[in-house]
Amino acid sequence: MAGNAMLNEWYPVGLFSHLAMGVYKTALMGEKIAVSADANGDAVVITSAGRILPVLVRFGHVWSSLGEPTKDLFSIPEADQPGRRFVEVGVVRVRCSPLRAVENFLDIAHFPFVHTDILGAEPHTEVQNYKVEIRDVEDEVWATQVKFYQPQAAKSASGGITTEYMYRVPSPTCSVLYKTCPPRPTEWDVIALFVQPLAEDLCDVWPWMALFDDETSMTDLIHFQQTIFLQDRSILENQIPHLLPLDPGMEIPTRADMTSVAYRRWLKRHNYTYGAQLVAQ
Ligand SMILES: [Fe+2]
Repeated sequence: MAGNAMLNEWYPVGLFSHLAMGVYKTALMGEKIAVSADANGDAVVITSAGRILPVLVRFGHVWSSLGEPTKDLFSIPEADQPGRRFVEVGVVRVRCSPLRAVENFLDIAHFPFVHTDILGAEPHTEVQNYKVEIRDVEDEVWATQVKFYQPQAAKSASGGITTEYMYRVPSPTCSVLYKTCPPRPTEWDVIALFVQPLAEDLCDVWPWMALFDDETSMTDLIHFQQTIFLQDRSILENQIPHLLPLDPGMEIPTRADMTSVAYRRWLKRHNYTYGAQLVAQ
């Protein structure tokens, strides 16, 4: 792991609102860590060897790093927009590579098959052409103009609609999804996936949402997202190879996987290889 550029990135390590409940013991890239609040209520992250780690609090989560982050955590401007509801979904543990968890989140083609009758339905399985790029200035992967028919795109949607999506990968284990907001056609709902790498083949996934939805109860919003993610978990835990192959040709990409191809290329370019498989086995 030494020399891996992922060491210097920020990762979610818990919910800030849970710190009041006491010390939260977890792990980050194989190191045991404890997340707690000091006398002022500020978050503190410490390794089992007593090393104090960098910390920041954003999007309802505590973030930390085993290395020395050279830049601030990415921003999500919608997190400061009045009128949105912020949903901390909680944690889902998945026995898979943290990179696999992000890649699955980026994959639109699985909707009709994995999230049948919710995010997709047969026979509407075709993924229309969309645009994928690695944006050099932001240093992020973006997929735009993604359109997909969905029977129930959101808790606030009644009946099927064609949903438009944008996907963004601003850090190796985080992805932000922007999707059509049924009650406000000029805005995007934001659904983010913050993945905490516990080990190369084990992660805690912290979904977080910033929505325009005044109708649905918080419990229902959380339950909707958990239902979706538990459907993903069984797929993720059965993927072979467990680690994400970064070399082209190790898995056959289809057109729907363009975002995945760009994501893998971007990871490789940055030497973001924790959870990646570099050579065929
Ligand atoms: Fe999924």
